[in-house]
Amino acid sequence: MSTDGQEEHVIEIENLVKRFGDQTVLDGINLHVKAGETMVIMGGSGCGKSTLLRHMVGSLHPDEGKVRLFGEVLAELSEEDLDEIRKKFGILFQSGALFQSLSVGDNVALILEEHTDLDAAIIDFMVKIKLELVDLREAAHKFPAQISGGMKKRAGLARALALDPKILFYDEPSAGLDPVTSAAIDRLIIDLTQKLGVASVVVTHEMDSAFTIADRMAMLNKGRVLMLDKREAFEELRDWPEDRMSELTEDQKLIRQFLRGDAEGPLTEESTGESSYAADLLGIDNSKLTGGRSIQTTRRVPNPDEPKSFLGKLLPHRDKQEQDKS
Ligand SMILES: Nc1ncnc2c1ncn2[C@@H]1O[C@H](COP(=O)(O)OP(=O)(O)OP(=O)(O)O)[C@@H](O)[C@H]1O
Ligand SMILES: [Mg+2]
Repeated sequence: MSTDGQEEHVIEIENLVKRFGDQTVLDGINLHVKAGETMVIMGGSGCGKSTLLRHMVGSLHPDEGKVRLFGEVLAELSEEDLDEIRKKFGILFQSGALFQSLSVGDNVALILEEHTDLDAAIIDFMVKIKLELVDLREAAHKFPAQISGGMKKRAGLARALALDPKILFYDEPSAGLDPVTSAAIDRLIIDLTQKLGVASVVVTHEMDSAFTIADRMAMLNKGRVLMLDKREAFEELRDWPEDRMSELTEDQKLIRQFLRGDAEGPLTEESTGESSYAADLLGIDNSKLTGGRSIQTTRRVPNPDEPKSFLGKLLPHRDKQEQDKS
């Protein structure tokens, strides 16, 4: 795995180009994700976010350029090696994508049964830990049809966490959720990142959410990275005063409009039609995908003083590792 000074990169994307027919969807993307950081990917509908995510998980291969996970070029791996790498990351599917015929607990257990040699008692124990992480232990015996949308997301997250991934991928984690529930999911993403040292890559349209969880952010437009920086730099642009707009470049004005969700500005001149393919990312169930598309800015920001999760007590050695790292 390569490093940048002291920092370890779990994902490295170099000059990624992807075309579908005549359309160049990704046009030279360069992006690195560091171990333990939360990278938020934003951009208008159809700009290539889901396509980029699909490259990161190895379900699409580039026409040009390279995508490395844990130092391995995905396109050069055999199916077998790719399966090994897939155990090291988790994906939060839209609406959880749970097996309807299995209880919440069995949905998590299934992954462990398929991918490990652990015996039933240990699996049982692991399932409880994963469900506790997402505050769903009480719902272990419920079936997906019996739980709310937010609980389904959390169950999906417990399943994504089953194999102790180093990276978590999320596509629109708060789409279709009410503001309080989506704030709770944000809190959970932050909690997991801090407690488990997991890197997260989050595609979202929800600006409050983006600013709550991001360490760094990437803004895509027309298949290119328009801006890639720390959250603070994006905050500065979002809050840039109206009377100093002439100091901004055209790109910066466009990003500012996007971040603020303003109806008028350079973005509005372009069409932003809904991409039907969005739903199809890794076979997600997408009835809810269009629900949370709009940029919302009224959401309650989660309270950072909320009591610490159970995980801190449960896995003190992990906590310690984190402290040792920093
Ligand atoms: N398999 C495919 N075949 C043909 N075109 C595709 C395919 N996948 C994506 N595209 C096209 O690539 C472009 C980018 O799609 P993508 O789904 O990555 O956008 P997005 O940024 O995720 O959009 P949204 O915010 O609506 O989810 C779209 O024009 C889409 O129609
Ligand atoms: Mg998409």
